[in-house]
Amino acid sequence: MSQLVVMGNTSLKGEIKASGSKNSVLPILAATVMIEEPVVIKNVPELRDVQTMISILQQIGKTVSFENETVTVMPGEILVGNVPYELVKKMRASFNIIGPLTMICGWAKVGKPGGCNIGQRPVDFHLKGLEAFGFRITEEHGDVMAVIPNSFEKEIVYALPFPSVGATEQLMTTAALMEGSTITIENAAREPEISDLQNFLNACGAQIAGASTPTIKITGVRNLHGSEYSVIPDRIETGTYLLGTIATKGDVKIHGTRSDHLISLLSILEEMGAGIEKGQDYLHAFWKGPLKPVRISSEPYPGFPTDLQPIITAVLATVEGTSVIEENVFENRFGYVDELNRMGARIKVSSSHANICGVDKLSGAEVVAPDIRAGAALVIAGLAADGETIINNVTHLFRGYERFQEKLRTLGAKITFYPDEE
Ligand code: EPU
Repeated sequence: MSQLVVMGNTSLKGEIKASGSKNSVLPILAATVMIEEPVVIKNVPELRDVQTMISILQQIGKTVSFENETVTVMPGEILVGNVPYELVKKMRASFNIIGPLTMICGWAKVGKPGGCNIGQRPVDFHLKGLEAFGFRITEEHGDVMAVIPNSFEKEIVYALPFPSVGATEQLMTTAALMEGSTITIENAAREPEISDLQNFLNACGAQIAGASTPTIKITGVRNLHGSEYSVIPDRIETGTYLLGTIATKGDVKIHGTRSDHLISLLSILEEMGAGIEKGQDYLHAFWKGPLKPVRISSEPYPGFPTDLQPIITAVLATVEGTSVIEENVFENRFGYVDELNRMGARIKVSSSHANICGVDKLSGAEVVAPDIRAGAALVIAGLAADGETIINNVTHLFRGYERFQEKLRTLGAKITFYPDEE
């Protein structure tokens, strides 16, 4: 199993640059399936999940190159409407390909993603939405088959049961090419990544309005054309480094970031008593004395992001008093708590709540990272703890954090990666 070994009692100090957003670029890459001209996407982070999406595009016939943070997707000669489970199981965002691929090929067969370490994560909203658009959906042998209707209704309205990020992206992208139809998605997710996808699609000739509000309206067009587009900075990566700075009593400036995408985190950090300076395109976090405990509920945007929930828990583990975290997005996002408790934290989970009783100091231990964000939380806990922490199963981290060890080392961390021996 791959490992990271982290030396404790380290304060993160220095300056780094934010990477492009993983969760923006994945649906943007999926949308390129529908564009039969060259597309150039800039500020793309070099991550395993991005490589997986590129492999899918190549598998269905696109020619894709990736260098200097730039992905170029060329139109391929043949598009195959088939994405095997082998690729979908590596990353759930692969499922975002099914709508765009069906629009181009007339049909698509994509492996149905299973559950994962943070919850069951079904795709029923994606499928019900596509059915509301008129697609015929069947499931067999673990695959989902979608077939395009002969024509689309003139007016389609679909209300999501929950503002799902992936389903909003899937439906908004698919609808962009439904010529002759006006599609309204209600109770849409409002995450900044949805606006980024809207901006990208509109730059390619789509007619979409309303991203960042609960109602998105799409007027389907006949074709999308090529364009050059730069993705937004990764707000979860920035949030991770801000929290790492506070956990380690450090002082870090993150350049090229967007404070307007992190309002809920920044207000919690201020409530905790952390030092925060917001610049035009940077965020600066610094320690200015003992922190206060807080109550936090993870919510869809603009609420506190579920992806930062494990990481702020690692910070609160050593904040005197009792903090309470409520997880409202995924049903199983406290899987890392036992690992933090192995490091001396005092956290009790009962259904969707975690009560965190702050201790003076954590102590290094051998732990296992159950998912991307929990892995980052354990690394931060390890940096702040006494002694050495060994984090197993860290390949998850490279799915979501670009040049993770390199950036941490720039900030003074002593961290060593031992790859899987297989
Ligand atoms: N849900 C359903 N049915 C669906 C879709 C979602 O029940 O068809 C439920 C999910 O099970 C979950 C909730 O709705 O309980 C929200 O899920 P959502 O669809 O919003 O999440 P997602 O699109 O699968 C994206 C991010 C996640 C992030 C969530 C929430 C990408 C590639 N992934 O997932 O990011 O946690 O939104 O903000 O955009 C990560 O980066 O580490 C990560 C997990």
